[in-house]
Amino acid sequence: MAHIKKINHVAIAVPDIDSSLTFWRDAMGLKVDHIEEVPSQKSTVVFIPVGESEVELVRPTSEDTGVAKFIAEKGGGMHHLCFEVDDIDAMLADLKEKGVRLINETALELPGRKMAFVHPKSTGGVLVELYQIAN
Ligand code: CO
Repeated sequence: MAHIKKINHVAIAVPDIDSSLTFWRDAMGLKVDHIEEVPSQKSTVVFIPVGESEVELVRPTSEDTGVAKFIAEKGGGMHHLCFEVDDIDAMLADLKEKGVRLINETALELPGRKMAFVHPKSTGGVLVELYQIAN
């Protein structure tokens, strides 16, 4: 059975990076590792390490993304929670077997990682992301 290693990141949808950094960086004292354009997700992502995990500030670069719609509806806020697993294919098969609804039934291959989302209908309302980091 697949094993969950840690919380990889908590993603927060933000309409504006500079104003969100006045809290996360300036008030909380966290350090920005880097800011990255992620064309596959149509977003700009600010990576903020916190111990073994990260906070990711996600600003959409297009109106037609799930994060953009989330911001339009709620003004932003916590968007998803990402767990790092040792074997994402086994994890997805196991969850499916247990009747959990998946957004991605098979993992998507991205540079350096595989990822999939679990549907919030099966998690009590939290969008859950799964990562397997390539070794
Ligand atoms: Co994420």
